[in-house]
Amino acid sequence: SKGDYRHYMLKEIFEQPTVIEAALEGRLSAQSVLVESFGPDALALFQRTRHVHIIACGTSYHAGLVARYWLERYAGVPVQVEVASEYRYRHPVVPEGTLFVTLSQSGETADTLAALRFAKTLDYIGSLAICNVPGSSLVRESDITLMTRAGPEIGVASTKAFTTQLVALMLLTLSVSKAKNQVEYPDIIAALRTLPEVCQRVLALDSQIEILSQAFAEKNHALFLGRGAHYPIALEGALKLKEISYIHAEAYPAGELKHGPLALVDSEMPVISVAPNDDLLEKLKSNLQEVRARGGQLFVFADESVGIDTQEDVRVLALPHVHEALAPLLYTLPLQLLSYHVAVLKGTDVDQPRNLAKSVTVE
Ligand code: M6R
Repeated sequence: SKGDYRHYMLKEIFEQPTVIEAALEGRLSAQSVLVESFGPDALALFQRTRHVHIIACGTSYHAGLVARYWLERYAGVPVQVEVASEYRYRHPVVPEGTLFVTLSQSGETADTLAALRFAKTLDYIGSLAICNVPGSSLVRESDITLMTRAGPEIGVASTKAFTTQLVALMLLTLSVSKAKNQVEYPDIIAALRTLPEVCQRVLALDSQIEILSQAFAEKNHALFLGRGAHYPIALEGALKLKEISYIHAEAYPAGELKHGPLALVDSEMPVISVAPNDDLLEKLKSNLQEVRARGGQLFVFADESVGIDTQEDVRVLALPHVHEALAPLLYTLPLQLLSYHVAVLKGTDVDQPRNLAKSVTVE
């Protein structure tokens, strides 16, 4: 049931601290990840992994895009990420030692399942499913699995399934790093443990995000910007806004702004930027300057330590500091809340948006 919440989506957004904790439960030791969380065959498989192919649809695909940054940076493994509906009709070249990974909330998405079946005819070393539904087709048909433990997700717009997928993908990154390189990242392990509490602090900003949402209700378009692992978070923010508020939204890596989309920016175009405090921040700041110079309204979600002043044309929401590896997870939350409040203001059917189904079991 929805309990005291007006919509399932809101309930599921607020469940995230709890389900993130569940997704970590029993999967970490004091200083390191427990590789056997992925099953008894995982260690041998990860030791042989030289490449990773990640296949998914929609929000799950965005989780895969974040994982690419993580696996390359922290495990040193090259990664390809692709939507299932494209992958399955290509003639993929599979380098020696490639692990095939699917991501899915439902485990029944037709294209993702077809991609797994197709991959079995190719030269992969094995398949891993990261999934929220035990006993689903994807789980039954994969060599190894990791459950995201988000619990039932009723809202069509995926929220807690996404953030728990990110947790699972960080566990994968740490596991591959440990298996292949004997590198354990105790700093990330420690940060993972504090994540539920930090997420709680972000959710406490809900009323401020609700106020920001008023600026969007009358808009027809919005632009989301991010850099690095936050580019996929911008994509996910734009997808959420499209799905439930029917506002046309696009996401760009901030560095692409000048290569086209800047032409769209005027005083009617809200621009939402995720700007945590990492080494790309200075570059992002100059991109933001370009938006302001054209009269665009800017909304910046940034680390509390970052000096971007709130001014008439720039509204800044400061988020608690978190290990940079986990920032993509944290910055997802305000974007979910933003799209939720915009949809409520517009009076759309938040949990059952038009034309969409929770699980896409047809091609
Ligand atoms: O169940 P899956 O994760 O395989 O579903 C994939 C997409 O259909 C799903 O993420 C969709 O994009 C959501 N409506 C996004 O909110």
